[in-house]
Amino acid sequence: MKILVAGKGGTGKTTIASTLAILLSKSGYKVLVLDTDSVPNTAVSLGIDVEEASKIVPLTMNDKLIQERTGAKPGEGWGVFFTLNPKVDDLIDKYGIRISEKLGLVVVGSIDASKQGCLCPAIALARHFLRHVLTSRDEIIIVDSEAGAEVFGRGLAEKFDMMLCITEPTVKSIGIALKLVKMAEELLVKQNVIVVNKVKDMKRAIKLCKEIIGDRVSYHLIRYDENIEELDYRGRGLNELPPNTPMLLDVKKLVEEFIPWIEVK
Ligand SMILES: Nc1ncnc2c1ncn2[C@@H]1O[C@H](COP(=O)(O)OP(=O)(O)O)[C@@H](O)[C@H]1O
Ligand SMILES: [Mg+2]
Repeated sequence: MKILVAGKGGTGKTTIASTLAILLSKSGYKVLVLDTDSVPNTAVSLGIDVEEASKIVPLTMNDKLIQERTGAKPGEGWGVFFTLNPKVDDLIDKYGIRISEKLGLVVVGSIDASKQGCLCPAIALARHFLRHVLTSRDEIIIVDSEAGAEVFGRGLAEKFDMMLCITEPTVKSIGIALKLVKMAEELLVKQNVIVVNKVKDMKRAIKLCKEIIGDRVSYHLIRYDENIEELDYRGRGLNELPPNTPMLLDVKKLVEEFIPWIEVK
């Protein structure tokens, strides 16, 4: 199962990707999370100490690695010639962070060319690594991304079994989610679910979803959860969420409804 967690910034991608990863790994599944945000913060949400997390260098920022694998030289404007199919099959072992027995994380860094400037070799390496992970690993893969499937483009987007497009319960935010889903469908992402997060008024949010999503796209609602705010405030991971907190229950329901062959405990 390869899951892309996408959507506009601040909607809750990292929160939901991390909660899902913790839940599935605690249920006995091997899970690998890839953080492809240009401001990576999944590590903290997964429970790594803030100080420790700040020391992690994303693959796309690791100049030595990029030079070693692609042949591009950082000091020379990265040059024009670099290897398009660098060796990547050892990167999980070398740069992966073990969160728990069943849960691993690789901080990849942004693969969005518009955000990375012209560091083409870095993006080439990251994309090649993603392709490797999406096609040859047997863990559940969860990608916490900074945008929609369009950043992954053809050749990569269709490797995902599912895109969870995170949105807030507003007309504007859901409108953006619908556009992202349309792009994902064009890129052949197999299943798309709009996840309406931070819901405070369930009745009103359901009405809104019925009106603007209707039955065009599947959707799922996740309640606003004060415990998340509290953990965030203290810089703590979501592994410390109490067992029956709304977020956990609602993410569980999401799995039960849309990935029924995965058994969550
Ligand atoms: N269900 C929720 N209830 C309460 N706060 C939430 C919820 N989901 C996310 N948040 C908060 O919203 C903010 C943005 O979430 P985050 O996961 O970092 O978004 P993104 O990764 O999309 O930028 C964080 O402060 C997070 O704690
Ligand atoms: Mg994030």
